[in-house]
Amino acid sequence: MKLFLDTASLEDIRKYCALGVIKGVTTNPTLIARENGDFHAIIREIASVTDGPINAEVLAEDWEGMVREGEELAAVHPRVVVKIPMTAEGLRAVSTLAPRGVKTNMTLVFSAAQALLAANAGASYVAPFVGRVDDIGYDGIAVIRDIAAVLSDGDFETQIVAASVRSPLHVVEAAKAGAHIATVPPKVIAQMIPHPLTEAGLKRFMDDWKKRV
Ligand code: G3P
Repeated sequence: MKLFLDTASLEDIRKYCALGVIKGVTTNPTLIARENGDFHAIIREIASVTDGPINAEVLAEDWEGMVREGEELAAVHPRVVVKIPMTAEGLRAVSTLAPRGVKTNMTLVFSAAQALLAANAGASYVAPFVGRVDDIGYDGIAVIRDIAAVLSDGDFETQIVAASVRSPLHVVEAAKAGAHIATVPPKVIAQMIPHPLTEAGLKRFMDDWKKRV
């Protein structure tokens, strides 16, 4: 399972892409709103830091507006993937953009039924929101497992991007449940790096090396 970074912070994108572990970036209107500057300029700068797909979301709620914004975003950089919310208008926008060669990520997906619709519309990716399902007392990882099962017949190339990831455990469980990608906030990537036994082991190696005669 590949790891994307779920942020629009250029500082964090530079920091974690430098480690060589980040294969793409996802943004959403909330994340873009936290940053200063023009939306398209931010996307262009992100593209200059990562080699992978850069997800940028439309703001229109009608399919024609989504298609217009989607084409504008796709023109910003060839690696842009257009995020489109899972609504009837969104499905129409995805099925209009797909044959025009625009890659799409159907976002705000919370069920296998929604994922099936997105795949049939021609979405390149579907983004189930694990944490937000957990937030209302259901099992977000079970939604990933269901989506992986219903898309496993090989009819579609739609990839599952586990989103709304809140912990290292979510990342591991999403991989086990069949996600192709997890998009992970910088804070959670940072939590994935250390382990007390790594730290203790390193300290012992260094202490022993200093005792060498
Ligand atoms: O990619 C969508 C994700 O950013 C939402 O995360 O934590 O706001 O539910 P969260």
